Amino acid sequence: MKEKKKENRKMYVTLGIILAVILLIAIGIIYVMTGRPVTNLPEQPVRGEEGTRSLVVYFSRSDVTLHKDEVDATSSASLNITENGMAGTTELVARRIQEKTGADLYAIQTETYYRSSYMGTAMRALIEKTFHMRPALAAAPENLDDYDVIYVGYPIWWYTAPMAVGTFLEQYDLTGKTIIPFCTSGGNNVEISMDFINEASKGATVLEGITANYASDDALDQWLERTGATE
Ligand SMILES: Cc1cc2nc3c(=O)[nH]c(=O)nc-3n(C[C@H](O)[C@H](O)[C@H](O)COP(=O)(O)O)c2cc1C
Repeated sequence: MKEKKKENRKMYVTLGIILAVILLIAIGIIYVMTGRPVTNLPEQPVRGEEGTRSLVVYFSRSDVTLHKDEVDATSSASLNITENGMAGTTELVARRIQEKTGADLYAIQTETYYRSSYMGTAMRALIEKTFHMRPALAAAPENLDDYDVIYVGYPIWWYTAPMAVGTFLEQYDLTGKTIIPFCTSGGNNVEISMDFINEASKGATVLEGITANYASDDALDQWLERTGATE
């Protein structure tokens, strides 16, 4: 009788621990998947050179994180101090490409912010990738027909592009357009994301991408020349 009681108690304790763990995981998932809504978004791309038919779109963690100043303290230098304030690594590359090509410029932003902590962002990104989610975007340019060439920039997240890049590309009819990917990463090459970009760019011609964290001006110029963007 005493043995049975002891066994029952053990079973209840184990059950309690399992339930507590499940509850904690559920709370964790809810926490990372729910951020505050992103506000103050430009609806249309920032204008480049008059008459350009090219657009640089990019996704960068700093644009989708509420407390930008917390990002650097918790991850490997994802923010860079510039004359115009803090900028993400991909954003910096996007701006360089925009300057070189005279293209218009647009930042992809999710409808809600990712959590500022690296872990919070990483967990949401992992869940989105695992379940092939397409997070809703805060806004989208309406004038994509104005462009023939779209440079698409992103950080590598979990060995591919962030799922929000998929949301962006898949919402348009890209037939006949040229997509030119560029990425920044902690080490992975852009190649690792090309299947995803190809898949999301139905009807478009996808050209050679570049891993551009530390790309010199020369390297960027040569790549742009190869893609036919510049002479
Ligand atoms: C959620 C998350 C996942 C990441 N996954 C990878 C990865 O799989 N491979 C890699 O090389 N770098 C990875 N990184 C590093 C980023 O790609 C790199 O820091 C990038 O330059 C950040 O650009 P950003 O400042 O424009 O967001 C990851 C970063 C984050 C935040």
